[in-house]
Amino acid sequence: MGRKPIIAGNWKMNNTIEESLELVGAVKKQSVDTYKVEVIVAPPFTAIRHVFDELGETSIQVAGQNLFWEDSGAFTGEVSARMLKQAGCKWVIIGHSERRQYFGETDVTVGKRLKAALMAELKAIMCVGETLEEREAGRAFDVLDTQVAGGLKGVEKSGLSKIAIAYEPVWAIGTGKTATSDQADEAHARIRGKLEALYGKEEAQAMRILYGGSVKPDNAKELLSRSNVDGALVGGASLKAGAFTAIISAGIDALAQ
Ligand code: PGA
Repeated sequence: MGRKPIIAGNWKMNNTIEESLELVGAVKKQSVDTYKVEVIVAPPFTAIRHVFDELGETSIQVAGQNLFWEDSGAFTGEVSARMLKQAGCKWVIIGHSERRQYFGETDVTVGKRLKAALMAELKAIMCVGETLEEREAGRAFDVLDTQVAGGLKGVEKSGLSKIAIAYEPVWAIGTGKTATSDQADEAHARIRGKLEALYGKEEAQAMRILYGGSVKPDNAKELLSRSNVDGALVGGASLKAGAFTAIISAGIDALAQ
């Protein structure tokens, strides 16, 4: 059995409750086939419960966009894994480059959040990716190695089935500049190689590695048809039901090849 692809929509800081309900209602209507592809949406915190309720019996899953590693306490502005879980989340996105860039996230804090997610039995999409400067300096693969090893530090083999990695080159996020499918496949192969070095071949082969960065309906099939690309983390295009469901369909088409 191959790896089941994941198509995840990262809404970022977009959509009020009302707008979220409208979007997810429209996605739901397009009868998404989640038998072949796992579909996840990550609304802002304020809309999570509403989206979860609206999704009802569908198999579309809900994710948080971040969490804090403590369970509760005096941490103004933070949300815990347990809170996300109770609100309906099965997943959480950890270490998105915008968190690293604007909110001081490091591999150490990514690791702490990841372990908190696993402890609460939330699945996690851990994001990694190099900046343009790092790529141009020929350091992209070193950065990926460091981020993968740093974020997973202390995670046991048994936790891996609850984790997916998202390769999101920072230069491709929200810029309209997608990595070519060769660049994505190569980076994913490197990440899988690092996972193999850390945990062994079988574990590395089982892990899903998603690509993120300007994924759109017209480039999704090409990216998703590459052997190391096991799904997509979609930002901008996940805010339009038609584009998001077209990407899901592209994922299903790519599987059939
Ligand atoms: P984008 O964002 O699809 O808008 O480039 C992807 C992401 O940041 O997850």
